[in-house]
Amino acid sequence: MRDAACVQFMQWALPRLRMRWAGFRKVRRQVCKRIQRRINALQLAGAADYRGYLRVHPAEWDVLDGLCHITISRFYRDKGAFDFLGEEVLPALVRLAAARGDSMIKCWSAGCGCGEEPYTLALIWYFCAPSARQSSDIAITATDIDPRLLARAERACYPGSSVKALPDRWLTLAFDRTGDQYCLRPALRNSVSFMAQDMRQTRPDGPFDLILCRNLVFTYFDRERQRQILAQLNERLRPGGALMIGSHETLPDSVAGLCPPCAHVPIYRKAVEHRAG
Ligand SMILES: C[S@@+](CC[C@H](N)C(=O)[O-])C[C@H]1O[C@@H](n2cnc3c(N)ncnc32)[C@H](O)[C@@H]1O
Repeated sequence: MRDAACVQFMQWALPRLRMRWAGFRKVRRQVCKRIQRRINALQLAGAADYRGYLRVHPAEWDVLDGLCHITISRFYRDKGAFDFLGEEVLPALVRLAAARGDSMIKCWSAGCGCGEEPYTLALIWYFCAPSARQSSDIAITATDIDPRLLARAERACYPGSSVKALPDRWLTLAFDRTGDQYCLRPALRNSVSFMAQDMRQTRPDGPFDLILCRNLVFTYFDRERQRQILAQLNERLRPGGALMIGSHETLPDSVAGLCPPCAHVPIYRKAVEHRAG
């Protein structure tokens, strides 16, 4: 399919899926290829016929929704934000947990892909927050809509291109190298558990001290759906908890309780409740 035809089709279809074209503009190639394959499989002539097909077969919208999942990820994506998490945010969350008599902080990675993001958090916890680690444990729930990605996340073996941003020392200490694959050692995998979930429908039970919601909701979903999901994320955050979004993302508008970003890093804190008297 020609690029122009694909762009026109996506600009028509995405709002009907409650997604936004602006998020897909730069990564449209992979979606266009999948749509073309689907058009071929249905033996249709092109995008115009596929539009007609969608009108007559409403169930096809779920298939198209599945073709629009962008799965790009890597370890230590947005290094500066992760460093800030290790140096400032995790120790602060551990102090808050200690103040309520808790020795566990609970985190959720929403749209975790093949595990690069939750495992990066586990690495940061291990290598960058040693004093926090002495007084607390961490439990990371990681969810994604795609069970095939989650199966790869459970295996925790990655090509060099995926781990290349990590410091050499971490690679040596945290991974076993098998051929061209880097496999994360069990000690670093144990704190992460995976679950298949469409976050538009279901979300893990909170409350969470930290939620990572990066390069999904606030890039690809339309603004109204962003607002709805942000309110649900906010509900699952403890007072004083933190929400980290992607470095190119912004929140749709203020949700009661969420404070402004910390130090130019896309991490937001939920206000601590102040009780009168
Ligand atoms: C671009 S990747 C981002 C991965 C990671 N958060 C990061 O920033 O590197 C988006 C991920 O969200 C998943 N995803 C897409 N729609 C979803 C949904 N409705 N619920 C949960 N996960 C979803 C995709 O399968 C994909 O793994």
